[in-house]
Amino acid sequence: MTSYRITLLPGDGIGPEITAVARHLLDAVSARHSFSLIYDEQPIGGAAIDRSGEPLPESTLAACRSADAVLLAAIGSPRFDALPREQRPETGLLGLRSGLGLFANLRPVKIIPALIGASTLRPEVITGVDLLVVRELTGGIYFGTPKGRVEAEGRVRAFNTMVYADDEIDRIARVAFQLASERGGRLCSVDKANVLDVSQLWRDRVELIAGDFPQVELSHLYVDNAAMQLVRAPRQFDVLLTGNLFGDILSDEAAMLTGSIGMLPSASLGSAGPGLFEPVHGSAPDIAGADLANPMAMVLSAAMMLRVGLKQEAAASDLEAAVDRVLTAGYRTGDLMAEGCSLLGCAAMGEKLLAEL
Ligand code: IPM
Ligand code: MG
Repeated sequence: MTSYRITLLPGDGIGPEITAVARHLLDAVSARHSFSLIYDEQPIGGAAIDRSGEPLPESTLAACRSADAVLLAAIGSPRFDALPREQRPETGLLGLRSGLGLFANLRPVKIIPALIGASTLRPEVITGVDLLVVRELTGGIYFGTPKGRVEAEGRVRAFNTMVYADDEIDRIARVAFQLASERGGRLCSVDKANVLDVSQLWRDRVELIAGDFPQVELSHLYVDNAAMQLVRAPRQFDVLLTGNLFGDILSDEAAMLTGSIGMLPSASLGSAGPGLFEPVHGSAPDIAGADLANPMAMVLSAAMMLRVGLKQEAAASDLEAAVDRVLTAGYRTGDLMAEGCSLLGCAAMGEKLLAEL
């Protein structure tokens, strides 16, 4: 029997609760499809800071490197907001992304028909939305240097650097063009080339790479306009290609098309080695431990792990179908609750999903 090694990173806040749900479902679906998953649970983020004082212990990174895939729930807690940056949970996540070379972040946004009413946007605007944000994940202003904070002449100044090299743009552009060619054949690259030099290089390189993908229709949008178009007419998009910061912002905005950020999975991939699969949402410290979280983005991230990371397509589809059926039957967690639906907690939602599987 094929077996895979999965490094599980429950992290902080609602992380452990949604991880427990995903694990039950993964066990059931792997047994049905005759493969096995061997889990290695490791601390990251605040959970790791509490244990060892650092958000990404070397042992966690090493375990991730040697796994077939990494499944992460969420990191972050206001308890650590006052710590120096290198001791904050977010720094652990960024270290994991760069440590594994995960430069390509895929965030699919697809409207689930049962949830059309959950969006703050009108049904006729969001019906049929099926887009993919391809976000560069290991460069740009998140990692650029110089950065820091200095005091001089009675003023405090803080700064970061938004920087991309041509090869960093080329490789993420190739991923986006390739995915567009396998989907609707349209790619929209997002930048701020009317103001930023780094964006002009971005646009120039994307234009160049387009020559290798004549079957893909390329367009460009300035990021401010892209933010507007996403809520004005989101169906116009197939694949959106963005740098690190713009993708962070636009993917949260795109998430709300589906009614809840609690529905969105993501995959982060490098050119070799294991991928990292995680929900787009954060650790939701306000509801942590209260059995109120929506585990669906985590379950859908597990499905992405099965499909993209382990090439177990049938098992992935089973998980996604279970999510669809439970929603169609009218079961909801609090974030998606609507009139006439049945409200469930996180664990009970896990049970429902298991029963539907
Ligand atoms: C995301 C998150 C992270 C990011 C944070 C937690 C560092 O917002 O994955 O979108 O900014 O990339
Ligand atoms: Mg974000």
